[in-house]
Formats: sequence, C-alpha cells, structure tokens
Amino acid sequence: MNDPEPEIIDLKPDLGDFRAEFLRGMTSVPKEINPKFFYDETGTRLFDEITRLEEYYPTRTEVSILREHCNDLSHIAGLIETVVELGSGNGEKGKLLMNCMPDLKRYVFVDISMAALKKALDSASDNNKHIERRGICSDFSGIDRILDHMFPEAKMVVFLGSTLGNMEQEEVIKFLNGLSGVLNRGDLIMIGVDLKKDKYTMEAAYNDRKGVTAKFNLNIIARAERELSIPLSPRDFSHLAFYNEQKGRIEMHLVALKDISFELDGVTIEIKRGERIHTENSYKYNVEEISENLKKAGFQNIGVWKDSMEKFAIINAQR
Ligand code: AVJ
Repeated sequence: MNDPEPEIIDLKPDLGDFRAEFLRGMTSVPKEINPKFFYDETGTRLFDEITRLEEYYPTRTEVSILREHCNDLSHIAGLIETVVELGSGNGEKGKLLMNCMPDLKRYVFVDISMAALKKALDSASDNNKHIERRGICSDFSGIDRILDHMFPEAKMVVFLGSTLGNMEQEEVIKFLNGLSGVLNRGDLIMIGVDLKKDKYTMEAAYNDRKGVTAKFNLNIIARAERELSIPLSPRDFSHLAFYNEQKGRIEMHLVALKDISFELDGVTIEIKRGERIHTENSYKYNVEEISENLKKAGFQNIGVWKDSMEKFAIINAQR
C-alpha cells in the first residue's frame, strides 16, 4: 500500500509581508527587521548550519535533554493523540519525539519556511509510518485559531529551540494566553528555553569563528536586494551580536559600513555610516520567569528538565 502524501497547508506567511514590514522597519527609529524574515531558503540552510556549530550550544543541549527524558515523555503524553510542533525546522526533533511517543496518531509540523517544512515531512517519513504527518506553513501570529479549528483532540503543543526567545515579554504573555484559550483541560505544552548564563558562552554562540551567524544575519540584506529589488549589498554591512545584560537578551544588529541611500515604494531611506539595523533579540530566561508566565496563563503541573550544566531547559505544563 502507498503512504498518502503528507498534507501541507500553505498560509503564505511571507508574500507581501516582507515588503510592507521591511519598509516599516526602515522608517522606524532605530531601524529594525523582524527576525522571522531570516528564514528564506538560504537563511533556513544557514540556520541549520548554525545548529551544528561548536559554539552554538542550544540545539545540541536541547536534543540531549529530550533524549534523556524520552521515557518520561512517553509517560506524560499518555492520552495525547496529536503533537503540534511550532517552528519545527528541519524536523530532527520531531523525529525524536515521534520515537519517544509511538502511540501518537498525528504529528503536525508548523514552520514559516516551506523549504524546512518539506524537509521535515520528508525526514520524518522513514520512521513511525503509522503516525499521520501534516505540515502548516505559517508564522505563529494566528496559530491559536488554527489549533482551535483543526485539532480538537487531546494534544500537546511543542515550542522548542528557544524560539520563544524572539518574543518580547508582552508577546510571550499574549501567546501563552492565546494557547491557553484554545487548549482543552489536560492538553499539554512543552517549551524549550535558553537559560541565562555567563556572557562569554552566550556571546560566543552568536559570534562563531566560521562566521556562519554573520552570514545568516547578512543574508537578510541579500534577501531584500533580491526580493524587493533594492540596490543593497551585504558587503556594506557588518555583523554585530552582544549580550544586553540589563534586558537579558542577545541582540543582533547589522552595522552600515558606509552611507547608504535607496528608494522603496516612493520613500527615500537613508542609512548613515555606523548606523545599526536591529535584526534580532534572543531572550535568555530563568526557569522561574517562564513558570510564572505559564501559571498566569492558566497552566499547571509545571515540570522542568535541564541539562547537567543548566544551559538549557525544557518546561512542560498542563492546561
Ligand atoms: C531560532 C531564534 C532560537 O535566537 O538562538 C541563531 C536564532 N540567531 N543564531 C536563536 C539565531 C542567531 C535562534 N532562534
């Protein structure tokens, strides 16, 4: 018997958005670009490369925690039918989760990158063929509505990789409240967050010696040049990443190496030499901060798994 093709629902998260949001970001003070626009095909490939860098500890630490707790996972997931993974990337963790939870009926990959989504669905197909796989190409903005309509059964929402770290505090609260509102009593949530630690370790993870993170950051300029036909060049910017102690976050910026001026939709944009474009915040957490937010959003039975060095945490909770 042939396996049915996994179904992909394309909510077209980037068409049009990029142009409007890029223009808005270039007219903001200071200038900024939303990090969700990193993930075009090249950016998705570069991020994949980042996750394998020696300095980038989050991915491998998180995977080691998941492996360590594979058994616990199969226990807490007892009656869960569907796992919905937000920001599923290349699908590596999905594969691992399916192996730990072989009684699942359905695994739903959600990612903003169609390239990543296809890869995830592909790589997940070798193992656990009895688990139905689906893909949704989307950002997380309307995800609560999607969950509410499409998957009414007992489910677990998985949000790994410290993707939550890209959100501001108010967004985190809104996001958790939104999820809480559409989940049923007994449904589960599992969140992976990067923990606050010594500055040296954190900054090295965003300033790797091979320069892959710099390429990843600069690719957003190449994307604007290509997709918006703006005369911009990645060579006219340099990568800057540092830990902002006061705000508890890694910040990434692009620094202009010369005066730049271009026009977009009739608006003249000027970037001065030395001026920064803020491209990403990556918040680092204490377990208590996340637990507090989860409790406030109506979650309970909060459990925490950490690696022995306490670099990273996976937090699970019940609606
Ligand atoms: C995918 C948002 C978790 O913040 O560490 C990696 C993205 N940026 N290197 C992170 C990223 C630079 C990553 N997240």
